[in-house]
Order: sequence, then C-alpha cells, then structure tokens
Amino acid sequence: MRKFLIDTDTASDDAVAMCMALRHPDIEVVGFTVVAGNVPLEQAVQNALYTVELCGADTPVYAGAHAPILRDLGTAQDVHGEDGFGDIGLDLRGREPANGWAPEVIVDTIRANPGQVTLVALGPLTNLAAALLWAPDIATLVERVVIMGGTGEHGPGNISPTAEFNFWVDPEAVRVVLRSGMPLELVGWDISIASAVVTEERRSQIRALDSAIAHFSLDIQATLASYAWEETRLAGPDFPDPIAMAHAIDPSPATSEQLGVDIAIGPEPMRGTMIVDHYGFAQMPKNATVVTHYPEDRFFELLFQLLAS
Ligand code: RIB
Ligand code: CA
Repeated sequence: MRKFLIDTDTASDDAVAMCMALRHPDIEVVGFTVVAGNVPLEQAVQNALYTVELCGADTPVYAGAHAPILRDLGTAQDVHGEDGFGDIGLDLRGREPANGWAPEVIVDTIRANPGQVTLVALGPLTNLAAALLWAPDIATLVERVVIMGGTGEHGPGNISPTAEFNFWVDPEAVRVVLRSGMPLELVGWDISIASAVVTEERRSQIRALDSAIAHFSLDIQATLASYAWEETRLAGPDFPDPIAMAHAIDPSPATSEQLGVDIAIGPEPMRGTMIVDHYGFAQMPKNATVVTHYPEDRFFELLFQLLAS
C-alpha cells in the first residue's frame, strides 16, 4: 500500500480528489491536514470530515493554519459557494477533527515513514511551509510531493491575470516550499483547463455511474459550474485537484520538465505569479518537475474507475 498524506482547503474539487484517494485499492490515506483557502479553516475541516464519512472511511482529519503567513486570508467562496460545497444544503457541521496540528502531523508522519510518504497538496501551502520551517529534514525524507498549484509553463491565472489561487493565497509559503529541496511535482491550473473540464458529456458519464460518490461529486459543483459558465467561460467546471490527484496516483501518462521555478511575492498585479526559468537565463536551480501535459482520457478513465462503486 502506498501512503498518501493529503493537505487540503476542502471545497468542491478537493472533495473529489479526496474520494479518489480514499477509494483507490493500493493507497492508504494516512491523514488529511486542512488549511484555510477556498473557505475558512473551520468550514474546510467540516467539509473534509463530511467527505471522509461519506466515503465510509475513518481517516483522521487535522486542522492547520487559519490564514497565510503574512497576509489576510482571501477565500474562493465566490467560486465554490459560501460552504465550499455549492451551498446545496448539506449538513456540514458538528463533526470532530482528530487531535493534532497539521504541520506537526506532516512532520511526524514523514519522519515515521522515511521514503514512503507521498504528500499531496491541494490548497495554499501554509501548512507545508510551517512544517518545513520547523523541520527542514523532512525535505529529504518525503518520497514525493505533488502540488496542485501555479500556472505551469504558460498558463493563465484564475485569481488574477497571472496567478493561480493556491499560489496567490500564500506566496511566501510557496517560496519556502520551492526553496526547501523537496521532490516537487507541480500540476498547474493549465493542466486542469486543458484536460479536466467536466463537459456535459463527461457530466453524463459521471452521473451514469450512479454511485453516491459520483452524484456527490457532481452535486457539490453547483457554484463552480455557474462560475465556469459566467467567468472562466470553460465548457463546464474544471477539476484541478482531481487531476493533480490522478498524477499523484499514476504519473506515467504525464509529460513533465525539470525547471527552475520561483514565485512573485509582493503586491498585485504580480502577487503569486509563478516564475519559470524556461531557458535558464537566470541560472535558477531546477527545483521542480513541472507537469506540462496529462492526457484527458487517462484522467477521466481513472476518475470514473474510482467514482464508480
Ligand atoms: O486554483 C485551483 C485551486 O484553488 C484548487 O485547489 C481549488 O480547490 C482551489 O484551492
Ligand atoms: Ca483545493
């Protein structure tokens, strides 16, 4: 069994990615660590607990950072709904997280399982940065770090013209992670809009699976779907966290490049912009594997398989 530790700001796409990992036969999800991002921390914790319960799992959920390191929290409730799950009236209250603080759980889990943990980060990197500032040794002990974040090689931003949300929320945390020496694999929003858009056809295929998880995965996208039609003008809601999870589960179909990556910190309009040294002009250390393509059919094939039963 492969050990996955998943850090999430649990909203409607995170939850689908969580279900994928929980339902994969070869993966042991050792825990979920939660960070403020799409929604405030408390809501993200409740959403994660709801999702774990829906999947019939008993995986522990740990609360983490309430806000970015140096900035006020900016949420994406306009994209995912006030509650993060499309405001469709789910009862997302009253569940109890496990004892423990997310950054400490990240450190303890990686140290206790050297070379065996895949860390999947689906939200702002505040928890991961806190863990690294406290225990930099984890950078050499973790097996893989798969991050949904940034805009890949040439992608557009989704919170500003050039910044992707997870990197925009806490750019200082991103820089701590980029400089840590961790084995980073970045799956940007460019990959999501290219290969993970839930078109009407894909939506019907998921609905036809007719499992509780498949219906849940669609129903909670209510706000994201309207946002897609009205704002990003995609052919449906896109699934950035699920395609990042697909890459974590099976990186074989991906095309990627080892590149020097940094991030713009400071005020708008460049806040959170991913800086990629494509041609080596800045002699930046090649600190990240940037996924440049993940085949759409392979993603949906894995998604359907994991949402089916
Ligand atoms: O930009 C997309 C990312 O921001 C996804 O992880 C989504 O859940 C939000 O956190
Ligand atoms: Ca997320």
